[in-house]
Amino acid sequence: MKLPEIRIRAPAKINLGLEVRERRRDGYHQLRTIYQAISLYDRLRLRRRPRGIVVRCRRLPRCGRDNLAWRAAALFVERTGAPGGLEIDLEKAIPVGGGLGGGSSDAAAVLLGAGRLFDIRVPLDELHRWAATLGSDVPFFLRAGAASGSGRGEEISPLPLFRRPVAVLIFDPGFAISTAEIYRTFRPHRLTTKEDKFTMLLSRWRSGTAAGLGRTLFNDLEETVFHRYPQLAEVKECFLRQGARGAQLSGTGACLFGLFGTRGEAARAARAVSAAFAGRCLAARFLPPRRRWGVVKR
Ligand code: C5P
Repeated sequence: MKLPEIRIRAPAKINLGLEVRERRRDGYHQLRTIYQAISLYDRLRLRRRPRGIVVRCRRLPRCGRDNLAWRAAALFVERTGAPGGLEIDLEKAIPVGGGLGGGSSDAAAVLLGAGRLFDIRVPLDELHRWAATLGSDVPFFLRAGAASGSGRGEEISPLPLFRRPVAVLIFDPGFAISTAEIYRTFRPHRLTTKEDKFTMLLSRWRSGTAAGLGRTLFNDLEETVFHRYPQLAEVKECFLRQGARGAQLSGTGACLFGLFGTRGEAARAARAVSAAFAGRCLAARFLPPRRRWGVVKR
């Protein structure tokens, strides 16, 4: 059935663990990560137009070819030979340059939404390949929920949901950090075989409590980012003093997150963090995979 328009939500993600290894020949870093989608969303409305791609977004200065939603739409139309173009209204709520995957999530939402709008079914593995050409995090957002990622982040294995309730608090310092720049200055540690932080985190994920999970969070890029932005290290300390079970930078930043046992604890910490630092706090929770909270709203 042909629909006049599609409305779709694009969630943010956090990286609960991020192990970054050496730079590969293609310029990307080999990594292992645990992605978790959270309930902080950009909102997109997709409509058909006779030809061409148009993206409108009040909060972004440029919405042309360098915008990932634009590129996802162009890719979809080109690869499927869809009859016509796309018009996208993008309402951003996910901080830009925050390490929360907003742009990648928008791109995945466009791929999914365009398929519905044109009633063109693309096999999921094909969609994954297209998504990976747009960015390392984009394949994760096709399903969202929780997943481990390897390769440059694009090889996805779904994880079961974390069993215990967790309240998430995001701190947005209000400035952006360039992912490419952080990776460029990052120097990998020599790996010690004894300390496999990723395996420990995975086992806590499968069996643990919010406190156990919090203790095993890690992000290999944190040192590089905190060296350049020492105020972010202070916010992390504040999160921990305020009772976070764990706190860290998401991806390459600039946003941090803290995990709390209850929403009340998170709200108390938000008041203390907001009083002490310039920036804003956003409350969220872990999201299940996309099929459980709706791919598309008509
Ligand atoms: O894949 P994506 O376009 O999101 O990556 C942005 C930049 O981050 C890349 O151009 C690269 O410099 C860096 N990156 C990396 N290793 C990864 C992922 C990203 O070096 N695994």
